[in-house]
Amino acid sequence: MESVPSWRLAALGLLLAVTQCPGCVTAQRKKHQRCDEQINLTTTTACTSCVISQNLLCPRGFERSSQQNIRDCSFTVDLGGEQLIRQVGCSLKCTKMATVSKCCNGFWSQDCLECPGGATHPCNGHGMCLDGVLGNGSCICEPKYKGNACEECADEEAYGPDCVMGCSCVHGVCSNGITGNGKCICFSGYTGPKCDQEVPACKSLGCGNNTQCVEEKTGSFICKCLPGFQKIAKTCEGKKIPLVCT
Ligand SMILES: *[C@@H]1O[C@H](CO)[C@@H](O)[C@H](O)[C@H]1NC(C)=O
Ligand SMILES: *[C@@H]1O[C@H](CO)[C@@H](O)[C@H](O)[C@H]1NC(C)=O
Ligand SMILES: *[C@@H]1O[C@H](CO)[C@@H](O)[C@H](O)[C@H]1NC(C)=O
Repeated sequence: MESVPSWRLAALGLLLAVTQCPGCVTAQRKKHQRCDEQINLTTTTACTSCVISQNLLCPRGFERSSQQNIRDCSFTVDLGGEQLIRQVGCSLKCTKMATVSKCCNGFWSQDCLECPGGATHPCNGHGMCLDGVLGNGSCICEPKYKGNACEECADEEAYGPDCVMGCSCVHGVCSNGITGNGKCICFSGYTGPKCDQEVPACKSLGCGNNTQCVEEKTGSFICKCLPGFQKIAKTCEGKKIPLVCT
């Protein structure tokens, strides 16, 4: 320690020069993937006379940087009696390569696990994965999407990969969601792209309350009571019949 008398590390601080992640280029698809980074740690002493800085030693683990004895700084000399002289001088520059633990893009936690949706397509391309060593692997989805990997449309009325709105069927079920095509599957007795038109044959039947117009195998339509309703005279009444599962 006696050989390094004038270390003042705080003065100019520790400069970090980050190099590009070399592991990322050759990286193969894996469930775990590290992209440790090589970091060039640089430390510089306070400015002093070039003769003195030439004889200083770098701290343990550090090496002298190539750029030495360059008159690139200035320091003041106190001659006493309030007399200060500003002098051009040198500082000792030391470097050290260090490895910093990092995950490749699309991987998270200390173990560098793959983000939801896969590292090549994190969050299915519809969100941002909180990746990196300190990340928790959650997807922050764009407003139109939801789900662990942003794999679902946020809205019930949205369909298709772009989650476009407009999936609505008046008397039917819409093929919604990211794999849906927006088409309606109409309940019995209804037709039209939005299932909003009554099948003409049903219209003329004029099925009453609590009924459903059902197409029979013969192709003709009849009025049937909805499940849970019973035919009493000509109407269907809400007298619950026990549901029998077969
Ligand atoms: C580290 O940085 C210093 C100063 O920027 C430079 O002189 C040195 O060549 C670098 N070392 C490596 C291994 O990149
Ligand atoms: C992950 O981190 C984000 C932001 O820090 C937070 O909002 C979210 O709740 C976290 N998720 C889990 C599953 O911990
Ligand atoms: C259908 O129900 C409504 C309201 O409950 C009632 O006013 C109407 O009379 C019913 N129609 C028939 C045909 O029973």
